[in-house]
Amino acid sequence: MPHPTTVFRALVFVGFGAAVLACRSEQTIRFDPGTVAHHKLLDGLDSRFLLGVASSAYQTEGGAQNDWSAWERGRFPDGRPHIADGATAQRTADAWHLWRQDVQAIQELGANMYRMGVEWSRLEPTEGAWDEAAAAHYRQVLEALRAARPQAIAPMLNLWHFTLPTWVAARGGWEWPGAPAAFASFAARVADHFGDLVDWWCTLNEPNVFASKAYLTAEWPPEVADPKRAAQVMVALLEAHAQAAAAIRAHDRVDADGDGFATRVGLAHAVPVFDPASRFNPLDRAVADASDEFFNRVVPEAVANGEIRVHIPRTVDLKVPAPELRGTFDYLGLNYYTRDLVSAQLRGLIAPRAGGPRPFVVVHDPGRPRTDMDQEIYPEGLYRQLKRFASYGWPIFVTENGMADRAGTRRPDYIRAHVYAMDRARAEGVPIIGYLYWSLTDNFEWTHGYRGRYGLYAIDFDGDPTLRRRWTPAVDTFREMAANIGLQPSHDVGR
Ligand code: BGC
Repeated sequence: MPHPTTVFRALVFVGFGAAVLACRSEQTIRFDPGTVAHHKLLDGLDSRFLLGVASSAYQTEGGAQNDWSAWERGRFPDGRPHIADGATAQRTADAWHLWRQDVQAIQELGANMYRMGVEWSRLEPTEGAWDEAAAAHYRQVLEALRAARPQAIAPMLNLWHFTLPTWVAARGGWEWPGAPAAFASFAARVADHFGDLVDWWCTLNEPNVFASKAYLTAEWPPEVADPKRAAQVMVALLEAHAQAAAAIRAHDRVDADGDGFATRVGLAHAVPVFDPASRFNPLDRAVADASDEFFNRVVPEAVANGEIRVHIPRTVDLKVPAPELRGTFDYLGLNYYTRDLVSAQLRGLIAPRAGGPRPFVVVHDPGRPRTDMDQEIYPEGLYRQLKRFASYGWPIFVTENGMADRAGTRRPDYIRAHVYAMDRARAEGVPIIGYLYWSLTDNFEWTHGYRGRYGLYAIDFDGDPTLRRRWTPAVDTFREMAANIGLQPSHDVGR
């Protein structure tokens, strides 16, 4: 009989080997380019599938006054301007005035859904106020979407996409204890006003991205680098989601499109893949897992279990009961763009502290192409995340997917490969109900200003004062998808 220590060592060895193999197999899925190129996009679906484009209010409208607009003209402590090239969103795509062109562009795609935002600071510029003119504006846009032909464009209305009214920011933003309730009362009013036109609701966009950039890495306002505060902000955002979901369900009783549902509520959750830069370095693996835990798992686990748990190794261990989160998802929205290959940094791991060295850096896989925003193009990651998040049992909506490609020539292949990933997951049983490309037009890309061009329609911000929405080759890819499921474009696009 072998000595128990020998058995233990053997088990550890076998376990480690199995873990390496498991992670090898998950990381080494590679789609065959020939198969992708010949794949019929959205094969087997019909026009009940929700196919469309997404945008956000602040990134496209121009002219909003909120916490971000107050911040964007400033500088970081090291003197760099907050926004690359000193740009601002004060005009951006001017969707506030040019929205008819946008509705036209969506019709030309043959889309049947548009995820758009309402800007909280416009509708409620001071606490408790309600701006009738701003409300009338949004109503006009929503009515035009519903009236679109050959098919109606169902709006998915997004209530918060990173920006806050200045009166909320002045009280401490998402650290103000009253913020979740203030957001929920805003949601209730929006649902009251637009519920007859809207069935699909997205309470929040990417709470994880916001908590990380605004409270962990100090890249966004209010420029905090403190894991404990980042964790508290995640909790506040999840509470805001729960309260807003309840408010929407209570205030929108109208089934706008007659399909039997007055409301479908969810949020858009960013799900990058985190893989270790070296599969054989346990520290890389540990850091990838910790990133995945904070970024990808906190939100769905909280909604599934009714308890918010935020764990950042050696820094944060938070458990907050939140039974009101249970049942708040009619769908889980996933925003997928890329994978981060993470390499652990000893200095950042040994002495974690606010503003100190980071625990990891993101490295490049030389075998993979990258976007203009230096993101790895990794469609296999979408497949992996869809399979993984399907285990929660909610219908899944790909609420964002897209690439920065100023020339516009590589985007058709990006879309093709990611829709292939989605179709493959669907064929394996993942209940995917919609796909939205980010974004309809080029727009303000947060601290990157106008460097990242994601639009199916390009805009020449510097050279064209009319900001005409210009066709890019991926419009044809989108139209091909739409045609495959029986959706019709309005007419031929002007190129
Ligand atoms: C955000 C968008 C952003 C896009 C491209 C998403 O995570 O929701 O606001 O423009 O990424 O970077």
